[in-house]
Amino acid sequence: MSESVTLKGPDGDHDFKVLEGTVGPEAVDIRKLYGDTGMFTYDPGFTSTASCQSAITYIDGEKGVLLHRGYPIDQLAEKSTFMEVSYLLLHGELPTQSELDAFTYTISRHTMLHEQLMIFFRGFRRDAHPMAIMCGVVGALSAFYHDSTDITDPDQRMIASHRLIAKMPTIAAMAYKYSVGQPFMYPDNQLSYTGNFLRMTFGVPAEPYEVNPVIENAMRRIFILHADHEQNASTSTVRLAGSSGANPFACIAAGIACLWGPAHGGANEAALNMLREIGKPENIPHYIDRAKDKDDPFRLMGFGHRVYKNYDPRAKVMQETAEEVLKELNISDPVLDTARELEQIALKDEYFIEKKLYPNVDFYSGVILNAIGFPTEMFTALFALARTVGWVAQWNEMISDPEQKIGRPRQLYVGATQRDYAPVGQRG
Ligand code: CMC
Repeated sequence: MSESVTLKGPDGDHDFKVLEGTVGPEAVDIRKLYGDTGMFTYDPGFTSTASCQSAITYIDGEKGVLLHRGYPIDQLAEKSTFMEVSYLLLHGELPTQSELDAFTYTISRHTMLHEQLMIFFRGFRRDAHPMAIMCGVVGALSAFYHDSTDITDPDQRMIASHRLIAKMPTIAAMAYKYSVGQPFMYPDNQLSYTGNFLRMTFGVPAEPYEVNPVIENAMRRIFILHADHEQNASTSTVRLAGSSGANPFACIAAGIACLWGPAHGGANEAALNMLREIGKPENIPHYIDRAKDKDDPFRLMGFGHRVYKNYDPRAKVMQETAEEVLKELNISDPVLDTARELEQIALKDEYFIEKKLYPNVDFYSGVILNAIGFPTEMFTALFALARTVGWVAQWNEMISDPEQKIGRPRQLYVGATQRDYAPVGQRG
């Protein structure tokens, strides 16, 4: 490892310290760059920028590795519960049995929403996108829980985090119920986190609801696979919003807004829509040609990733889960056949090989969620639900970091230089 790197500038050499993490690329500490040289760095999309230090999630995109607090994602997806992973992300270690019991109990005590919030839902049109409702309702939580918005108090930060993790399934399920005109279901705290969510979504007050263990297990995996993903766009949004001292509910609402985009969380919805549009395996070559055509904006949704350039380790677990769920529900979905075939064709195609484009987590998740019965618009809402724990863990880490400053990037200005105002009649 080199201890510093030297930048040869017009006014001489400048040394910058090299920082070493526990694993992964080293980082050049350029905090003094502007002060020392009067220059900025230019990195749109942050492709070479470490925006913070973090001890939560590690990704090696070349090797297809994803670790939460050091634990591989496939082990967590196979063996742990969502409550364990939530505790792990928030507190840094897997819980002991008593810690897990206490955490699970605490989360279950926060699953209900303030009754007044129900009225808030009714202000939306019935055809509102659930992400629009999630943004609004989660932001509105700050108006209801004043006792957990003092971000300088670690206890209040933790209560807000628990509230967000606990209430997200209730909010997402209510967004769904509102869209189909069915009564809201109150939480049942005897059920698991995922079982409770399934019941609030698909149950009705008139009948008992039995949780199918295969579906419950699939949802557990989906939630774990989406729980955190390092400094992705929505997490960076949460951190940036939080860096100004904004309250946690407002920060998570900002994260939800960012996640909504089709290049991020909206990709699972877009991937399923694309598979439906392709319709049958015979049509695949036409869409592959379109994806390769520079003049056509079409992209294979659910393919490619900013960080993974080998494979997305979450995609494999998703594919296995898709097979399991469709078998359990006895569904033969042509969309799954199209997905399998598309994956095979794309993986052998020179364009995709050369650009290192592989299926990502969203390629198969839509197939599973569709089979379970979620409408496409709910897919991103489920992603938001699961990612909330990652967002609050990252937000807590940032607020506790003594080096934390308000996020304030600079720019390379390319606009007009100074000029004088001309009255309207003298322009042109
Ligand atoms: N289909 C066809 N071509 C693609 C695709 C795709 N899905 N993804 C990237 N490319 C091409 C792109 O056109 C570019 O080609 P060129 O170098 O000739 O201009 C090259 O590959 C690099 O792409 P990029 O857009 O510069 O890469 P990026 O790292 O900025 O974007 C991405 C990553 C995920 C936004 C992009 O791969 C994409 O749009 N994928 C489809 C959307 C998707 O599935 N998103 C979910 C990501 S995983 C879940 C999440 O994080 O939310």
